[in-house]
Amino acid sequence: MTKQVLEQLETPALLLDPARMDRNIERMRNQARRLGVTLRPHVKTNKSMDVTRRMMETPEGPITVSTLREADYFAAHGVKDILYAVCIAPNKLDHVMRLQDQGVRLTLILDSMEAARVLAQCAHEAQRHFELLIEVDSDGHRSGVNPDSGELLSIAQFLEAAGIPVQGILTHAGSSYDCTSTDAICAMAEQERAAAVHAAQRLRAAGIACPVVSVGSTPTALFAERLEGITEVRAGVFVFFDLFMAGLNVCGVDDIALSVLATVIGHQREKGWTILDAGWMAMSRDRGTARQPVDQGYGLVCDLDGRPLEDLILVGANQEHGIMAHRSGKIEGALQLPVGAQVRILPNHACPTAAQYDHYKVLGPGHEIEATWPRISGW
Ligand SMILES: Cc1ncc(COP(=O)(O)O)c(C=O)c1O
Repeated sequence: MTKQVLEQLETPALLLDPARMDRNIERMRNQARRLGVTLRPHVKTNKSMDVTRRMMETPEGPITVSTLREADYFAAHGVKDILYAVCIAPNKLDHVMRLQDQGVRLTLILDSMEAARVLAQCAHEAQRHFELLIEVDSDGHRSGVNPDSGELLSIAQFLEAAGIPVQGILTHAGSSYDCTSTDAICAMAEQERAAAVHAAQRLRAAGIACPVVSVGSTPTALFAERLEGITEVRAGVFVFFDLFMAGLNVCGVDDIALSVLATVIGHQREKGWTILDAGWMAMSRDRGTARQPVDQGYGLVCDLDGRPLEDLILVGANQEHGIMAHRSGKIEGALQLPVGAQVRILPNHACPTAAQYDHYKVLGPGHEIEATWPRISGW
């Protein structure tokens, strides 16, 4: 059977450039190797076995997930070592136990005495063993207990007394996304490392072994200069990268492996607008680059070979309409693409853009579609 080519696809469609993806994976793998830590890839960006298989160290993992739906899906494909890196809620414990019953070693996290009490009660009533990390806050970004607090020790001691051994510490320096220079990202990586190691040392001083010390975000993982005291790094968006990461100088625009194929459906020539069939449903509403020095609108427009086109971006987006125009607003001499012409649009943020689709169209040589890789969504 002859393969489909890009020009034959119905749009919008989510395209994956596997050569770029493989290069991105290799870069992260080399960095983890250099730093002497295990790479526990976060699969929340890709949610696809075909992608994750290429990121994992072994067919059984380890991986990090952001939903139990991801845990179900990857477990059904044979992955056994899974870290669920969102604080556990009581109404998810039945689901957790179902996963354990399938032979999954599912590690949970929590950052409060309330959650610790619920877990201890469940462990007691159901006669269960749980693998657990305590989340610490290394940057004031989101969740986690203060690594210097009494609360950290009280939670750990309570869990140990309840027969739930604390496996270790987890932190995620999400503030790395707000850094404005490479030096600042390096400093954030060191802050993340130091906070996690400090918390682990405090637990060890209290007699808790704490074998796991887990850190990571894509920027801090790639820019960490040393990771002494850390056992594993988690990162996810690096597999595809996106315009936000390029805006942080964590990657180049030509490292971005994900794009949305769209078609010209009309014009407002007096305004310099070309209307595409890819609006915010196709790109997501993420406007993360609006707070960076170069605002990429709803995405950067490229030709079918993935080369950026004359500074064209999606300046606006409705549900199914994208408005393509010159970044500067210039009307004269703007590129004229006829109705039916196709373009590729690089996303601001790979995770929400990919989440709009149920499969990837994988690019081969000469605009061929090599494969269709399914992906999951939901909870
Ligand atoms: C707990 C946790 N770890 C790791 C990551 C991976 O970070 P990134 O998406 O920058 O690769 C995330 C992302 O949100 C996360 O929430």
